[in-house]
Amino acid sequence: MTVVSPISGISGDNTQQRCSAKKVEASLAFTEVPQPVLLLGSGGMLGRAWEELLVCNGIEHVSLGHGELDVARRDAVDGALHKSYRLVVNCTAWTDVDGAETNETSAFAVNADGPQFLAQRCRQLGVMLVHYSTDYVFRGDATRPYQEQDPVDPQGVYAKSKAEGDQCIQDSGCRHLIIRISGLYAPWGKNFMRTMVRLLQSKNHVRVVNDQRLRVTSATEAAAGSMGLVKLGIEGIVNLAGEGDRTWYEFACQIGRHLGSKCEIEPVRTDQYPVAAPRPAYSVLDLAKARSLIGGISSWQEQLASVLAQREE
Ligand SMILES: NC(=O)c1ccc[n+]([C@@H]2O[C@H](COP(=O)([O-])OP(=O)(O)OC[C@H]3O[C@@H](n4cnc5c(N)ncnc54)[C@H](OP(=O)(O)O)[C@@H]3O)[C@@H](O)[C@H]2O)c1
Repeated sequence: MTVVSPISGISGDNTQQRCSAKKVEASLAFTEVPQPVLLLGSGGMLGRAWEELLVCNGIEHVSLGHGELDVARRDAVDGALHKSYRLVVNCTAWTDVDGAETNETSAFAVNADGPQFLAQRCRQLGVMLVHYSTDYVFRGDATRPYQEQDPVDPQGVYAKSKAEGDQCIQDSGCRHLIIRISGLYAPWGKNFMRTMVRLLQSKNHVRVVNDQRLRVTSATEAAAGSMGLVKLGIEGIVNLAGEGDRTWYEFACQIGRHLGSKCEIEPVRTDQYPVAAPRPAYSVLDLAKARSLIGGISSWQEQLASVLAQREE
C-alpha cells in the first residue's frame, strides 16, 4: 500500500523518475481533483502511470495493488472503500485477452463483478468512480470511428466481460466516468511496444498483423487526460486515445524507425497469426468529445518518442 498525504507531498526514493509524469495544470474551468483518491490496480501499466501522476501533482491518495485488494471479492471491496475517499480510480482488470477464452469465470470476476462491487459501494458512499473500458467492446466492422454512444457488440470473452463491467457501473446509479482507451503502451509492463523493441533488437525478421486498425495510447498520457476530465467534473463515457490511427504493423514500423532498426518487418493478415480471441478489425475511437473537453492528448510522435526514451529494460 502506498499512502501520500498532501502535507508530505511528493515523497519516496524515486521522486525524480516519478515526476516525469505530467503536472495537470488548473485553468479557470478546472476544479481540484477530489481528495483523497483510492487508486486500485496500482501495479498495472495504467495504474502505475496514475500513481506517478498523483505523486507528481501532490494529490493525497492511497494505492492498493492486487495483493492488498481483490476486487472480485465483495467483502474485500466493501471493507477497503470507506467514505473518507472522494474518488476511486479503478485500473484493475483481467487483461490477458487470449487467456480469457479459457478462463471465462476469472475474467468475468475481475472485469464484471469487480466493477459492479466497486460501483455499488461507491453508490452507497456517494463516491465518484473512474473506470476504464476498451475499444474491444465494439464489433470492429465500422467504417467511421466509434463514438461513445455507439452500441457495443463485444466478440471475445475479455471484450464481453469488459462490456458487462461497463453496464454494471451504468446500472448502479453511482457517479461515474468510464474512459474508453485502446492500444495502451508504457515504458513498463507488458505491452506491444516493449515486446516489439525486444524483437526488433534481437531478430532479423518479424511478422506483424496489418489488418487491425486502432489508436495506440501512452498510459502516461491516458492517465493525465483522465485527470483532466476528472478536474472538469465530467461524468458518463468518454473515449480517450492517441491521435492518428494505425495498424499494429504500421506501429511496429514507427518503433523500428525510432530505434534505427534494420530488422525486416513483414505485414501479415490476422488469419496468418492465429490467436485464441477474436480482435476487432477496426476499433478506432472517435475523439471529438475528448478533444472538445481537454483538447485531446499529445501527438503519437511525441508520445512514442517519450515512452521509448523512458523504457525500462
Ligand atoms: N492494455 C491495453 O491495451 C488496454 C486497452 C484498452 C483498455 N484497457 C483497459 O485499461 C485498464 C488498465 O489496463 P492495463 O493494461 O494497465 O492492465 P494491467 O497492466 O494488466 O494491470 C491490471 C492490474 O489489475 C490487477 N488485478 C488483476 N486482477 C485483480 C483483482 N482481482 N483484484 C485487484 N487487482 C487485480 C493486476 O494485478 P496482477 O498483475 O497482480 O494480476 C494488475 O496490476 C483496464 O481496465 C483494461 O481493460 C487496456
